[in-house]
Amino acid sequence: MGLFGSKSVIGIDIGSHAIKAVELTPVGSRYRVLHSGTADTPPGSVKEGIVVEPQGVGAAIRGLLATSGIKANRVVSAVGGQAVIVRELKLPSMSEEELKQAARFEAERYIPYGVKEVNMDFDVIGETTEENQKKMVVLLVAARRETVDKHVQALEVAGLEPFVLDVESFAVMRSLDPQAHTNGQSEAAVLVDLGAETSDIVITEAGQLRLTRNVGIGGDALTRAIATRLELEFKSAEQLKEEKGIVLLEGEPLPDDRTVLSLHEVMLPILGDLATEIRRSLDYFQTRWRESRVGRIVLSGGTAKLQNLDRFLSLELGVETVVGDPFLSCDVAERVLPSAIRKDTASSMTTAVGLAMRGAVER
Ligand SMILES: Nc1ncnc2c1ncn2[C@@H]1O[C@H](COP(=O)(O)OP(=O)(O)OP(=O)(O)O)[C@@H](O)[C@H]1O
Ligand SMILES: [Mg+2]
Repeated sequence: MGLFGSKSVIGIDIGSHAIKAVELTPVGSRYRVLHSGTADTPPGSVKEGIVVEPQGVGAAIRGLLATSGIKANRVVSAVGGQAVIVRELKLPSMSEEELKQAARFEAERYIPYGVKEVNMDFDVIGETTEENQKKMVVLLVAARRETVDKHVQALEVAGLEPFVLDVESFAVMRSLDPQAHTNGQSEAAVLVDLGAETSDIVITEAGQLRLTRNVGIGGDALTRAIATRLELEFKSAEQLKEEKGIVLLEGEPLPDDRTVLSLHEVMLPILGDLATEIRRSLDYFQTRWRESRVGRIVLSGGTAKLQNLDRFLSLELGVETVVGDPFLSCDVAERVLPSAIRKDTASSMTTAVGLAMRGAVER
């Protein structure tokens, strides 16, 4: 038995743009990164977080394992995007045990039989009165049957069998937890995972999920708008966005580069919509949790790398906004992940890191 190998866990995040894999091993209260890598998702094979072509995705995962030196081992993956169902249930007052059963009963309508473990979760988020009856408002998070099946199939094609299938927003909560609570445990945080096709808005407080929403705004919307306006192919538009995209802020000097200026103009309405969606979630949260205060917004996902997006959202929403680093509680050797690559890929690896952390904790 290897000294570290036997304890390690692989987190695999299957996105519409890229597949990310991280292998971690727990060392005390921290983790060591053993391997890390990403591969392009075959175009069209993952849509809005749902695997639609398991064969193609599976082959891409197999390739990724080979190039990043990861051997089949304990795997934790997750469903996300539109594949995850968030339901508010209104239930009559009942005991914790009865509630567990009721939530499981409800969740099983969406979760396939045979998967070793699917992570569904629930939380009592408030109280209400309906027809003179006091009811508990329960937030249930679960995944739809057929999408879980396809996800598992893709992993099986790559020779992997997930021992836990988690929910992406839970993984983000786990890996960004140290940054969500820097202003003191008492404050809530908004985690925004900005992907290619969709984004997750998650509100967490005292380590608990308060709200999670998936919105159809991501990096692809920016790319499409750039492609249309500048008459470019999607791929060239994406490259231009990643190289020169900057959100220009009011009161700051304008750049000389006209491309930068026009990219900003094209992206601004979409980023405004994103800010509106986050504000909606904040307002909704605040009406439910009047005493709570949101301390900060933590961004993750590939689109979090868009220059100045953190500062833009901070100004728009009046809440301190930072880009998260999932590797904060990890030791990363230079030869495993050179610091330049680590910096560049950290925000996109957030979900994968959070998944591997779960497996490492649950052994
Ligand atoms: N430097 C950058 N500036 C702006 N956007 C970037 C940058 N680098 C990557 N992106 C964008 O990040 C997105 C990919 O992010 P990510 O890997 O988190 O998506 P995904 O998880 O595959 O997608 P989804 O979660 O929607 O299924 C793409 O839209 C890409 O253009
Ligand atoms: Mg993603």
